[in-house]
Amino acid sequence: MDNKYQPLATSNLIVGRGSINFIGQLAKKRAAVIYDGRATSEAIKVQLKELITKNGGECLFIADIKNEPYFNDILRYAEEMKSYNPDLIIAIGGGSVMDTAKAMHLFYENPDMSIEESLRPFALPKLGKKAIMVAIPTTSGTGSETTSVAVFIDQKDKSKHIMISNELIPAYAIIDANFADTLPKTVAAHTGMDALTHSLEAAVCVAASPMVRSIALGAALDILENLVDSVAGIDECKDKARETCHVAATLAGVAITNSCAGLAHGFDQPGAYFGIPHGLVCGLLLPYTTAFTGPHPSYTVLAKRLGLQGPSERDYCQSLADYLVDFNTRLSLPISLAEAGIAEKPFMEKVDDFAGLALMAMATKLSPRIPTLEEAKELLKNCYYGKKPVVK
Ligand SMILES: [Fe+2]
Repeated sequence: MDNKYQPLATSNLIVGRGSINFIGQLAKKRAAVIYDGRATSEAIKVQLKELITKNGGECLFIADIKNEPYFNDILRYAEEMKSYNPDLIIAIGGGSVMDTAKAMHLFYENPDMSIEESLRPFALPKLGKKAIMVAIPTTSGTGSETTSVAVFIDQKDKSKHIMISNELIPAYAIIDANFADTLPKTVAAHTGMDALTHSLEAAVCVAASPMVRSIALGAALDILENLVDSVAGIDECKDKARETCHVAATLAGVAITNSCAGLAHGFDQPGAYFGIPHGLVCGLLLPYTTAFTGPHPSYTVLAKRLGLQGPSERDYCQSLADYLVDFNTRLSLPISLAEAGIAEKPFMEKVDDFAGLALMAMATKLSPRIPTLEEAKELLKNCYYGKKPVVK
Protein backbone atom coordinates (compact mmCIF):
# COMPACT_ATOMS: atom_id res chain seq x y z
CA MET A 1 0.00 0.00 0.00
CA ASP A 2 1.81 3.11 -1.22
CA ASN A 3 -0.43 6.06 -0.46
CA LYS A 4 2.03 8.93 -0.57
CA TYR A 5 0.19 10.53 -3.51
CA GLN A 6 -3.22 10.28 -1.85
CA PRO A 7 -4.85 13.20 -0.03
CA LEU A 8 -4.44 13.02 3.75
CA ALA A 9 -7.44 11.07 5.05
CA THR A 10 -8.79 12.63 8.24
CA SER A 11 -11.89 13.92 9.93
CA ASN A 12 -12.25 17.68 10.08
CA LEU A 13 -10.61 18.27 13.45
CA ILE A 14 -12.19 20.76 15.85
CA VAL A 15 -9.75 21.17 18.73
CA GLY A 16 -9.78 22.90 22.10
CA ARG A 17 -11.52 23.02 25.45
CA GLY A 18 -15.15 23.98 24.84
CA SER A 19 -15.02 22.88 21.20
CA ILE A 20 -18.17 20.80 21.76
CA ASN A 21 -19.99 24.09 21.08
CA PHE A 22 -19.15 23.51 17.40
CA ILE A 23 -22.15 21.15 17.34
CA GLY A 24 -24.37 24.24 17.53
CA GLN A 25 -22.99 25.45 14.18
CA LEU A 26 -24.07 22.37 12.26
CA ALA A 27 -27.77 23.34 12.09
CA LYS A 28 -28.98 19.78 11.63
CA LYS A 29 -32.59 18.83 12.31
CA ARG A 30 -32.44 15.32 13.77
CA ALA A 31 -29.48 14.14 15.85
CA ALA A 32 -29.04 10.53 16.97
CA VAL A 33 -26.57 10.20 19.85
CA ILE A 34 -24.59 7.03 20.52
CA TYR A 35 -22.95 7.17 23.96
CA ASP A 36 -21.71 5.28 26.99
CA GLY A 37 -24.15 5.83 29.83
CA ARG A 38 -21.44 5.21 32.44
CA ALA A 39 -19.27 8.06 31.14
CA THR A 40 -21.87 10.52 29.84
CA SER A 41 -23.22 12.65 32.70
CA GLU A 42 -26.66 14.24 32.72
CA ALA A 43 -24.93 17.63 32.39
CA ILE A 44 -23.27 16.54 29.14
CA LYS A 45 -26.56 15.19 27.81
CA VAL A 46 -28.31 18.47 28.62
CA GLN A 47 -25.48 20.46 26.99
CA LEU A 48 -25.66 18.40 23.80
CA LYS A 49 -29.43 18.63 23.66
CA GLU A 50 -29.33 22.42 24.09
CA LEU A 51 -26.76 22.83 21.31
CA ILE A 52 -29.03 20.97 18.90
CA THR A 53 -32.45 22.26 19.95
CA LYS A 54 -31.42 25.95 19.97
CA ASN A 55 -31.42 25.77 16.14
CA GLY A 56 -34.82 24.09 16.06
CA GLY A 57 -33.44 20.56 15.83
CA GLU A 58 -34.24 17.54 17.93
CA CYS A 59 -32.06 14.97 19.61
CA LEU A 60 -32.50 11.33 20.60
CA PHE A 61 -30.07 9.34 22.75
CA ILE A 62 -30.39 6.19 20.74
CA ALA A 63 -27.81 3.62 21.88
CA ASP A 64 -26.01 3.18 25.21
CA ILE A 65 -22.80 1.21 24.44
CA LYS A 66 -20.93 -0.53 27.26
CA ASN A 67 -18.67 -3.04 25.51
CA GLU A 68 -17.08 -3.88 22.20
CA PRO A 69 -20.15 -4.43 20.07
CA TYR A 70 -21.50 -7.68 18.66
CA PHE A 71 -22.76 -7.79 15.09
CA ASN A 72 -26.31 -8.47 16.26
CA ASP A 73 -26.32 -5.34 18.40
CA ILE A 74 -25.18 -3.24 15.44
CA LEU A 75 -28.01 -4.44 13.22
CA ARG A 76 -30.58 -3.87 15.97
CA TYR A 77 -29.29 -0.34 16.66
CA ALA A 78 -29.22 0.42 12.93
CA GLU A 79 -32.93 -0.56 12.71
CA GLU A 80 -33.72 1.88 15.51
CA MET A 81 -31.74 4.55 13.70
CA LYS A 82 -33.69 3.90 10.51
CA SER A 83 -37.00 4.52 12.24
CA TYR A 84 -35.67 7.78 13.75
CA ASN A 85 -34.18 8.95 10.41
CA PRO A 86 -31.40 11.30 11.66
CA ASP A 87 -29.35 13.72 9.56
CA LEU A 88 -26.65 13.90 12.26
CA ILE A 89 -25.03 11.01 14.11
CA ILE A 90 -23.09 11.96 17.22
CA ALA A 91 -20.80 9.42 18.90
CA ILE A 92 -19.59 10.51 22.33
CA GLY A 93 -17.42 8.03 24.21
CA GLY A 94 -14.48 5.69 23.76
CA GLY A 95 -13.48 3.47 20.86
CA SER A 96 -16.39 1.03 21.17
CA VAL A 97 -18.95 3.84 21.04
CA MET A 98 -17.34 5.42 17.97
CA ASP A 99 -16.88 2.05 16.23
CA THR A 100 -20.54 1.20 16.85
CA ALA A 101 -21.66 4.55 15.49
CA LYS A 102 -19.58 4.06 12.33
CA ALA A 103 -21.27 0.71 11.67
CA MET A 104 -24.74 2.06 12.50
CA HIS A 105 -24.13 4.85 10.01
CA LEU A 106 -23.08 2.30 7.38
CA PHE A 107 -26.13 0.03 7.83
CA TYR A 108 -28.51 2.99 8.23
CA GLU A 109 -27.49 4.28 4.80
CA ASN A 110 -27.20 0.78 3.30
CA PRO A 111 -29.97 -1.29 4.89
CA ASP A 112 -29.59 -4.17 2.42
CA MET A 113 -25.87 -4.64 3.06
CA SER A 114 -24.80 -7.95 4.61
CA ILE A 115 -22.25 -8.30 7.40
CA GLU A 116 -19.95 -10.12 4.94
CA GLU A 117 -20.12 -7.19 2.50
CA SER A 118 -19.37 -4.71 5.28
CA LEU A 119 -16.12 -6.56 6.09
CA ARG A 120 -14.59 -6.33 2.61
CA PRO A 121 -11.55 -4.07 2.99
CA PHE A 122 -11.79 -0.64 1.34
CA ALA A 123 -14.97 -1.62 -0.55
CA LEU A 124 -17.74 0.30 1.20
CA PRO A 125 -20.14 2.62 -0.65
CA LYS A 126 -20.03 6.38 -0.19
CA LEU A 127 -21.49 7.53 3.12
CA GLY A 128 -23.10 10.86 3.97
CA LYS A 129 -26.21 10.90 1.81
CA LYS A 130 -28.57 10.66 4.77
CA ALA A 131 -26.44 11.82 7.68
CA ILE A 132 -23.00 13.03 8.71
CA MET A 133 -21.15 11.67 11.71
CA VAL A 134 -19.48 13.66 14.46
CA ALA A 135 -17.17 11.84 16.90
CA ILE A 136 -16.39 13.22 20.34
CA PRO A 137 -13.77 11.04 22.08
CA THR A 138 -13.88 10.89 25.87
CA THR A 139 -10.77 8.72 26.14
CA SER A 140 -7.34 9.64 24.74
CA GLY A 141 -6.12 6.65 22.81
CA THR A 142 -8.00 4.71 20.17
CA GLY A 143 -8.02 7.49 17.58
CA SER A 144 -11.29 6.05 16.27
CA GLU A 145 -12.65 9.61 15.90
CA THR A 146 -10.41 9.97 12.85
CA THR A 147 -9.60 6.42 11.73
CA SER A 148 -11.05 4.36 8.91
CA VAL A 149 -11.49 1.30 11.12
CA ALA A 150 -14.23 -0.17 13.30
CA VAL A 151 -13.75 -3.37 15.36
CA PHE A 152 -16.52 -5.88 16.13
CA ILE A 153 -17.00 -9.26 17.75
CA ASP A 154 -18.84 -12.19 16.24
CA GLN A 155 -20.90 -13.55 19.12
CA LYS A 156 -20.75 -17.09 17.67
CA ASP A 157 -17.04 -17.65 18.31
CA LYS A 158 -16.01 -14.36 19.99
CA SER A 159 -13.66 -13.65 17.07
CA LYS A 160 -12.72 -10.07 16.24
CA HIS A 161 -13.51 -8.54 12.85
CA ILE A 162 -12.57 -5.25 11.27
CA MET A 163 -14.46 -2.96 8.94
CA ILE A 164 -12.02 -0.72 7.09
CA SER A 165 -12.75 2.04 4.61
CA ASN A 166 -12.09 5.76 4.45
CA GLU A 167 -15.88 6.11 4.21
CA LEU A 168 -15.99 5.23 7.91
CA ILE A 169 -13.92 8.28 8.88
CA PRO A 170 -16.27 10.63 10.77
CA ALA A 171 -16.95 13.95 9.05
CA TYR A 172 -15.92 15.86 12.19
CA ALA A 173 -13.92 14.96 15.30
CA ILE A 174 -14.32 17.26 18.27
CA ILE A 175 -11.22 17.06 20.44
CA ASP A 176 -12.45 18.71 23.63
CA ALA A 177 -10.15 17.88 26.55
CA ASN A 178 -12.89 18.81 29.04
CA PHE A 179 -14.11 15.23 28.45
CA ALA A 180 -10.71 13.74 29.27
CA ASP A 181 -10.32 15.37 32.70
CA THR A 182 -12.44 12.78 34.48
CA LEU A 183 -10.80 9.78 32.83
CA PRO A 184 -9.77 7.24 35.52
CA LYS A 185 -5.99 6.87 35.88
CA THR A 186 -5.85 3.30 34.60
CA VAL A 187 -7.91 4.13 31.51
CA ALA A 188 -5.72 7.20 30.88
CA ALA A 189 -2.61 4.98 31.11
CA HIS A 190 -3.93 2.17 28.92
CA THR A 191 -5.41 4.40 26.22
CA GLY A 192 -2.32 6.63 26.33
CA MET A 193 -0.09 3.63 25.64
CA ASP A 194 -2.37 2.61 22.77
CA ALA A 195 -1.92 6.09 21.27
CA LEU A 196 1.86 5.97 21.84
CA THR A 197 1.96 2.63 20.05
CA HIS A 198 -0.06 4.01 17.12
CA SER A 199 2.34 6.92 16.79
CA LEU A 200 5.58 4.91 17.00
CA GLU A 201 4.25 2.27 14.62
CA ALA A 202 3.09 4.81 12.06
CA ALA A 203 6.49 6.52 12.31
CA VAL A 204 8.25 3.38 11.02
CA CYS A 205 5.48 1.96 8.78
CA VAL A 206 6.70 1.24 5.25
CA ALA A 207 3.60 3.05 3.90
CA ALA A 208 4.18 6.28 5.85
CA SER A 209 4.91 9.46 3.89
CA PRO A 210 7.33 12.06 5.31
CA MET A 211 4.34 14.13 6.49
CA VAL A 212 2.77 11.14 8.24
CA ARG A 213 6.11 10.43 9.94
CA SER A 214 6.22 14.04 11.18
CA ILE A 215 2.69 13.82 12.55
CA ALA A 216 3.48 10.48 14.18
CA LEU A 217 6.76 11.60 15.75
CA GLY A 218 5.16 14.80 17.08
CA ALA A 219 2.37 12.79 18.67
CA ALA A 220 4.83 10.26 20.13
CA LEU A 221 6.93 13.01 21.69
CA ASP A 222 3.89 14.76 23.16
CA ILE A 223 2.70 11.51 24.74
CA LEU A 224 6.15 10.55 26.05
CA GLU A 225 6.57 13.99 27.61
CA ASN A 226 3.08 14.27 29.11
CA LEU A 227 1.48 10.90 29.80
CA VAL A 228 3.11 10.34 33.20
CA ASP A 229 1.87 13.72 34.48
CA SER A 230 -1.52 13.16 32.86
CA VAL A 231 -1.93 9.79 34.61
CA ALA A 232 -0.42 10.87 37.93
CA GLY A 233 -2.89 13.72 38.09
CA ILE A 234 -0.37 16.23 39.38
CA ASP A 235 -2.62 19.21 40.04
CA GLU A 236 -0.64 22.04 38.51
CA CYS A 237 0.04 20.28 35.20
CA LYS A 238 -2.56 17.53 34.88
CA ASP A 239 -5.07 19.52 32.85
CA LYS A 240 -2.47 20.70 30.34
CA ALA A 241 -0.88 17.23 30.16
CA ARG A 242 -4.29 15.61 29.65
CA GLU A 243 -5.12 18.10 26.92
CA THR A 244 -1.80 17.48 25.16
CA CYS A 245 -2.31 13.70 25.31
CA HIS A 246 -5.92 14.06 24.13
CA VAL A 247 -4.85 15.94 20.99
CA ALA A 248 -1.80 13.69 20.42
CA ALA A 249 -4.01 10.57 20.51
CA THR A 250 -6.08 11.97 17.64
CA LEU A 251 -2.96 12.88 15.66
CA ALA A 252 -1.67 9.34 16.21
CA GLY A 253 -5.01 8.17 14.79
CA VAL A 254 -4.47 10.39 11.73
CA ALA A 255 -1.01 8.88 11.35
CA ILE A 256 -2.17 5.22 11.35
CA THR A 257 -5.11 6.02 9.07
CA ASN A 258 -2.62 7.34 6.53
CA SER A 259 -0.13 4.49 7.02
CA CYS A 260 -0.81 1.55 9.32
CA ALA A 261 -0.29 0.31 12.85
CA GLY A 262 2.63 -2.09 13.30
CA LEU A 263 4.02 -5.16 15.03
CA ALA A 264 2.60 -4.59 18.53
CA HIS A 265 -0.88 -4.34 17.02
CA GLY A 266 -0.29 -7.39 14.88
CA PHE A 267 0.93 -9.29 17.94
CA ASP A 268 -1.85 -8.21 20.29
CA GLN A 269 -3.48 -11.62 20.05
CA PRO A 270 -3.10 -12.55 23.77
CA GLY A 271 -4.94 -9.38 24.83
CA ALA A 272 -8.06 -10.24 22.86
CA TYR A 273 -7.88 -13.92 23.90
CA PHE A 274 -7.27 -13.43 27.63
CA GLY A 275 -9.32 -10.23 28.00
CA ILE A 276 -6.41 -7.90 28.80
CA PRO A 277 -6.91 -4.22 27.77
CA HIS A 278 -5.64 -3.52 24.25
CA GLY A 279 -3.60 -0.45 25.25
CA LEU A 280 -1.90 -2.27 28.12
CA VAL A 281 -0.80 -5.13 25.86
CA CYS A 282 0.30 -2.85 23.02
CA GLY A 283 2.36 -0.71 25.42
CA LEU A 284 3.91 -3.83 26.94
CA LEU A 285 4.83 -5.27 23.54
CA LEU A 286 6.15 -1.95 22.20
CA PRO A 287 9.72 -2.13 23.63
CA TYR A 288 10.05 -5.67 22.21
CA THR A 289 8.73 -4.77 18.76
CA THR A 290 10.92 -1.65 18.72
CA ALA A 291 14.03 -3.70 19.50
CA PHE A 292 13.00 -6.36 16.99
CA THR A 293 12.44 -3.76 14.26
CA GLY A 294 15.95 -2.50 14.87
CA PRO A 295 17.63 0.75 13.87
CA HIS A 296 15.31 3.13 12.04
CA PRO A 297 15.68 6.86 11.24
CA SER A 298 12.41 7.62 13.08
CA TYR A 299 13.66 5.89 16.24
CA THR A 300 16.89 7.87 15.99
CA VAL A 301 15.02 11.17 15.65
CA LEU A 302 12.85 10.37 18.65
CA ALA A 303 15.72 9.08 20.80
CA LYS A 304 17.77 12.21 20.07
CA ARG A 305 14.84 14.47 20.96
CA LEU A 306 14.41 12.55 24.23
CA GLY A 307 18.13 13.02 24.96
CA LEU A 308 18.81 9.26 24.90
CA GLN A 309 22.20 7.71 24.40
CA GLY A 310 23.72 7.02 20.95
CA PRO A 311 25.81 7.49 19.00
CA SER A 312 25.01 4.74 16.48
CA GLU A 313 21.50 4.11 15.11
CA ARG A 314 21.60 0.75 16.84
CA ASP A 315 22.46 2.42 20.17
CA TYR A 316 19.59 4.88 19.78
CA CYS A 317 17.18 2.03 19.04
CA GLN A 318 18.36 0.10 22.12
CA SER A 319 18.12 3.23 24.28
CA LEU A 320 14.58 3.82 23.05
CA ALA A 321 13.53 0.21 23.77
CA ASP A 322 15.00 0.50 27.29
CA TYR A 323 13.26 3.85 27.76
CA LEU A 324 9.91 2.28 26.77
CA VAL A 325 10.30 -0.51 29.35
CA ASP A 326 11.01 2.14 31.97
CA PHE A 327 8.07 4.21 30.72
CA ASN A 328 5.66 1.34 31.43
CA THR A 329 7.13 1.04 34.92
CA ARG A 330 6.72 4.78 35.56
CA LEU A 331 3.04 4.35 34.68
CA SER A 332 2.76 1.36 37.07
CA LEU A 333 2.02 -0.90 34.09
CA PRO A 334 3.25 -4.50 33.80
CA ILE A 335 6.33 -5.17 31.68
CA SER A 336 5.61 -8.83 30.93
CA LEU A 337 2.52 -10.79 29.93
CA ALA A 338 3.05 -12.96 33.02
CA GLU A 339 2.97 -9.84 35.17
CA ALA A 340 -0.20 -8.78 33.33
CA GLY A 341 -1.87 -11.83 34.87
CA ILE A 342 -1.78 -14.40 32.07
CA ALA A 343 -1.08 -17.93 33.35
CA GLU A 344 1.91 -19.71 31.77
CA LYS A 345 0.27 -22.98 30.70
CA PRO A 346 -2.67 -21.57 28.70
CA PHE A 347 -0.36 -18.96 27.15
CA MET A 348 2.20 -21.52 25.99
CA GLU A 349 -0.60 -23.75 24.65
CA LYS A 350 -1.74 -20.88 22.43
CA VAL A 351 1.58 -19.27 21.54
CA ASP A 352 1.88 -21.00 18.14
CA ASP A 353 -1.64 -19.87 17.22
CA PHE A 354 -0.90 -16.31 18.37
CA ALA A 355 2.27 -16.24 16.27
CA GLY A 356 0.40 -17.50 13.19
CA LEU A 357 -2.37 -14.91 13.59
CA ALA A 358 0.17 -12.14 14.20
CA LEU A 359 1.94 -12.91 10.91
CA MET A 360 -1.36 -12.66 8.99
CA ALA A 361 -2.16 -9.17 10.32
CA MET A 362 -1.83 -6.26 7.89
CA ALA A 363 -0.10 -4.30 10.67
CA THR A 364 2.66 -6.94 10.71
CA LYS A 365 2.95 -7.04 6.92
CA LEU A 366 3.49 -3.26 6.70
CA SER A 367 6.21 -3.22 9.37
CA PRO A 368 9.80 -2.54 8.33
CA ARG A 369 10.98 -5.95 9.60
CA ILE A 370 8.60 -8.90 9.37
CA PRO A 371 9.36 -11.83 11.72
CA THR A 372 9.58 -15.43 10.61
CA LEU A 373 7.27 -17.86 12.40
CA GLU A 374 10.11 -18.90 14.73
CA GLU A 375 11.00 -15.28 15.47
CA ALA A 376 7.32 -14.51 16.12
CA LYS A 377 7.09 -17.31 18.69
CA GLU A 378 10.32 -16.20 20.36
CA LEU A 379 9.09 -12.59 20.48
CA LEU A 380 5.87 -13.66 22.20
CA LYS A 381 7.73 -15.85 24.69
CA ASN A 382 10.17 -13.03 25.50
CA CYS A 383 7.18 -10.73 26.11
CA TYR A 384 5.62 -13.36 28.32
CA TYR A 385 8.66 -13.73 30.58
CA GLY A 386 9.74 -10.08 30.41
CA LYS A 387 13.18 -10.87 28.97
CA LYS A 388 15.13 -7.69 28.29
CA PRO A 389 14.49 -6.54 24.70
CA VAL A 390 17.80 -6.49 22.80
CA VAL A 391 18.47 -4.92 19.40
CA LYS A 392 20.34 -7.42 17.24
FE1 LIG B 1 -4.58 0.39 19.02
